[in-house]
Amino acid sequence: TAVTAVTAVTAGTSAPAPAVTLAPTRPVPADFVLGVATAAYQIEGARHEDGRTDSIWDTFSHTPGAVVAGDTGDVACDHYHRYADDVLLMKELGIQSYRFSTSWARVCPDGGPVNPLGLDFYERLVDSVLAAGIAPWLTLYHWDLPQALEERGGWRSREVVDRFVDYALAVHDRLGDRVSTWTTLNEPWCSSFLSYTGGEHAPGGTSPADGLAAAHHLMLGHGSVVQALRERDASLRLGLTLNFTVADPLDPSDPRDVDAARRIDGQMNRVFLDPIFKGAYPADFLEDVRGLGLEDHIMDGDLEVISTPIDVLGVNYYNGSLVSHRPAPPRPDAAPAGPAIAHPTRSPFPAADDVHHHPHDLPVTSMGWPIQPEGLTRILVRLQEEYAGPAGVDLHVTENGAAFDDVPDAEGFVDDRERTAYVRAHLSAVLDAIDAGVPVRGYFYWSLMDNFEWAWGYDKRFGIVRVDYETQQRTPKTSALDYARIIASRELPI
Ligand code: NOJ
Repeated sequence: TAVTAVTAVTAGTSAPAPAVTLAPTRPVPADFVLGVATAAYQIEGARHEDGRTDSIWDTFSHTPGAVVAGDTGDVACDHYHRYADDVLLMKELGIQSYRFSTSWARVCPDGGPVNPLGLDFYERLVDSVLAAGIAPWLTLYHWDLPQALEERGGWRSREVVDRFVDYALAVHDRLGDRVSTWTTLNEPWCSSFLSYTGGEHAPGGTSPADGLAAAHHLMLGHGSVVQALRERDASLRLGLTLNFTVADPLDPSDPRDVDAARRIDGQMNRVFLDPIFKGAYPADFLEDVRGLGLEDHIMDGDLEVISTPIDVLGVNYYNGSLVSHRPAPPRPDAAPAGPAIAHPTRSPFPAADDVHHHPHDLPVTSMGWPIQPEGLTRILVRLQEEYAGPAGVDLHVTENGAAFDDVPDAEGFVDDRERTAYVRAHLSAVLDAIDAGVPVRGYFYWSLMDNFEWAWGYDKRFGIVRVDYETQQRTPKTSALDYARIIASRELPI
């Protein structure tokens, strides 16, 4: 722990003692990468420009009642036209790496042949990111499946896997010489269970069997793309991003609560981790979902493809889960009403009738999510010990962030002290993991700027930069200035 003088009062008088406030800080390792993340549908807009066709999120957001206030990503942050300014803003903040996603329906409209105009956009973007001295980190699938492919079965269908490989190779053919880190999927838990079972994300499906089929095909798509890209260029850094929870039993002495926590861990974490790192679905998970048809989709050789070695695992962490076999009492402070995810770890499985989420005794964000930084330390330590370490895979926190009810002043400035404290606390939790021997390589704040928060539309703001959607004015918040100071000084105030 270092100490930095943050306030020095000029001497010059015969004051008895210099008034100096000493604030403790923690050093951030020199090679630890500090970045920000976004995703195509959430920021780009330009819905039908230059040949882009609809994705499942265009269809879903235009469905009455699916998204709060009927918001859509038609315009979003208009990043498609403003990307150059957005990159300059990142440069001014000193951002070291930018995690973004490419839109499948822009690159391969309707999931079909390549659209050079769509690739032109990503080439302009990547070139400006590189010119700003920022390392690009590309995600191929952040939930925006071309609608035409959904109509042929979407992720329920095995056919989508080949189309995903075609699309990935098209992006690689254009950008492979400039982008070294490629992640296939962002949070497949959301694009399977929340999308095909939970009904809360596009395409709005409500079938447990479909969610399982989608999860398997997503992972098969991941492994197939890793193989195809590796074949093109063995030097690429390849992997995927998963969202994790730490599932704690409400009453650790009650075996029924311990079992509820096991199920949530299976459905959120191990269902993806085990096939990827161990080449097998967890036996207890298979038992939990017996009769829902998962086995029917698993063909010979699939698990070998899914477990193709990767180089990097992206960790998205927002909060943990406190679970019990008993229902939680109704609470007046429950998450705000809306069609969206009230809790990101909600289980979509009927088998989980005896799994109930309880509120932590912790402050919450405006999503109703508990602020639980120690959970980030725990999941990183566990991932290193059980998965990433033995496989020699690098860990990065590819998302962590918070929505709060920001109040701008007359100039549009937001003094977001809660978000500032949130970022500091979670970075400190990452440093705790590093101190415990976990070689975490970097951290990406979600998100660079306020954007389309899926089923919550523009109602929830996660940015360290405010977006005024009327004028598209960007204004860095206190959290952005604080993050910039941390990056520049490599010292984390605690
Ligand atoms: C997860 C997703 O990857 C991102 O798209 C979303 O906006 C944030 N978490 C916040 O919910």
